[in-house]
Amino acid sequence: MTTAAGNTDWAAMRDRFPILERKTYLNSCAYGALSTDVIASFQAYVNDRLEKGTDWDYWVERNDAVREVVAGLLGATENEIAVTASASAGINSVASSLQFDQGRKKVVISDFEFPTNAQIWYAQERRGANVVRVPQRDGYIPVEHFEDAIDEDTLIVAVTQVCFRNGARLDIPAIVEIARKKGALVLVDGYQALGTLNFDVKTVQPDFVVGGMLKYLLGTAGIGFLYVREALIESLVPTVTGWFAQDGIMAMDSTRYTPSTTARRFEMGTPPVPNCYAAEAGLAILAEPGLPAIESRVAELTASIIEQAKSAGYSLSVPEDSARRGPMVTLQTQDEYKLVGELENAGVITSSRNGNLRISPHFYNNHDDVDALFSALRPLKHLLV
Ligand SMILES: Cc1ncc(COP(=O)(O)O)c(C=O)c1O
Repeated sequence: MTTAAGNTDWAAMRDRFPILERKTYLNSCAYGALSTDVIASFQAYVNDRLEKGTDWDYWVERNDAVREVVAGLLGATENEIAVTASASAGINSVASSLQFDQGRKKVVISDFEFPTNAQIWYAQERRGANVVRVPQRDGYIPVEHFEDAIDEDTLIVAVTQVCFRNGARLDIPAIVEIARKKGALVLVDGYQALGTLNFDVKTVQPDFVVGGMLKYLLGTAGIGFLYVREALIESLVPTVTGWFAQDGIMAMDSTRYTPSTTARRFEMGTPPVPNCYAAEAGLAILAEPGLPAIESRVAELTASIIEQAKSAGYSLSVPEDSARRGPMVTLQTQDEYKLVGELENAGVITSSRNGNLRISPHFYNNHDDVDALFSALRPLKHLLV
């Protein structure tokens, strides 16, 4: 939605998220707010089942439609995108295609990983991998720490873009450059960032990117994606697989394994079809203002949250430098659960991890939401640090 002057009409876009009429919703790092578009897409799924009965081709098209929009979001080609049931499914599929007993065996992760992007790699230790965890220092992981860990034995560096606990953003372009020099692959878990910032795979050049549609991509749970750099695809043969990964899905050939020549080889079984409807609708909303406009708006909101937090004397957990943070601002707490509960009683929806209050706006928030948060925090000062 744009104004006559060509600018995004943020107020009109906000109206498509009904919860914002009732709550101060600042928890997009957990779930994105549900839009009327996504509600209609679920209804469309039900209507299609009722009216068409069966329409397999249409279902496959819905999966391909998500592939197309995700490709657009990342600056990738459709051939480089697998539509998955979760970020975990994408990481597992990649891990299954790597061999840890033929030369390089080191997997570099960090202290900032969401558990799934650590647990899956630790599971590969049973297949010969050696997982090394890069430590944080004072709530951040400087690039030098990665430089120390990545060497000629490193097969893959698998790191989060933004930490789900404190909101710190890693310097992914620098990490990719270090890994490239050492001949290591890079997988980026973009779940806590994508949808709020411009991230172009052709510029940054990671080998893999995973994410999911529940948070800033405005879709639903139960659907994610995996980007695989085109030049790598045919050299990687996943052993976690299924019929949707085959070259000819409808060939129904149960005598052999013939992986697709595209990133579809990283898919598995029947697509999460209702979630494809929802993901397509959510992603289409992001395309209206476009990521550069969304990035500026989210940056403006997070800067305002930080400014108000500092003037109220609250302690940040997220780095203050805008290059080192994403869409989430975190504050240190005395009792995270009590604080989140009290805010909820005041109509302000947030969440917490590891003692940090997580405040995570999206483009649909506005400065009134930020003011409402700080009014609600004022009587709760004793629960903050
Ligand atoms: C950074 C990050 N990665 C991965 C996940 C979860 O991925 P999935 O449940 O789709 O496997 C989350 C969810 O909160 C997350 O924040």
